Amino acid sequence: MRGCTASRESALHERLMPSMTTPPMTLRQAKADEAGGLSHLHGRCFDEAWSADFIARVVGGPGGIALAAVDPDNGDPDGGDIGFAFVRVTADEAELLSIGVLPEWRDGGVGRLLVRAAIERARATGAVKIHLEVADDNHPARALYNAAGFRQVGRRPGYYDKTGADALTMALDLI
Ligand SMILES: CC(C)(COP(=O)(O)OP(=O)(O)OC[C@H]1O[C@@H](n2cnc3c(N)ncnc32)[C@H](O)[C@@H]1OP(=O)(O)O)[C@@H](O)C(=O)NCCC(=O)NCCS
Repeated sequence: MRGCTASRESALHERLMPSMTTPPMTLRQAKADEAGGLSHLHGRCFDEAWSADFIARVVGGPGGIALAAVDPDNGDPDGGDIGFAFVRVTADEAELLSIGVLPEWRDGGVGRLLVRAAIERARATGAVKIHLEVADDNHPARALYNAAGFRQVGRRPGYYDKTGADALTMALDLI
């Protein structure tokens, strides 16, 4: 009985404190006709949302891939998506264009799952390398990418207009 109790308690704990446990969620592939919802999700993860039009072009264009992390039971009135990753594959190279996790779901492994899935999807298309760009001062994202195996390959000084931060370019070989 103790085992049952412990497992019920741990299930309850997961519900109440999702950011501290393995998230009860799955990944799915999102489509261009969901661009409105993805734009809203993007805007909850970043100061400025990418527009639905732009996301529709990225996701619906050649080589576009959108992954969404879903918590079907989170009670969010905007739907169950709690994170996303957008990838574009051109010839044999992929780019991780954007990734975000809702603030209340961060630090619980969702970003790691999305990055891994993005890498696997890119590899499955035949890409031999995946690139990304990240602000020098975005420490959580840099740690996430480093942990996933990306390595810095370049720096663009003062790249971000609003903050003046440098952009780092990072890459991971897929073969
Ligand atoms: C970056 C982001 C996607 C990470 O998502 P997340 O779900 O919180 O990340 P995870 O919990 O899966 O963490 C995975 C790894 O990332 C790193 N990491 C995540 N949050 C971190 C933080 N606050 N500080 C330091 N490292 C952090 C760690 O290496 C962590 O591995 P560990 O738990 O074994 O230490 C999330 O913080 C986010 O949405 N930020 C705003 C949008 C953004 O900046 N996107 C990236 C633009 S380039």
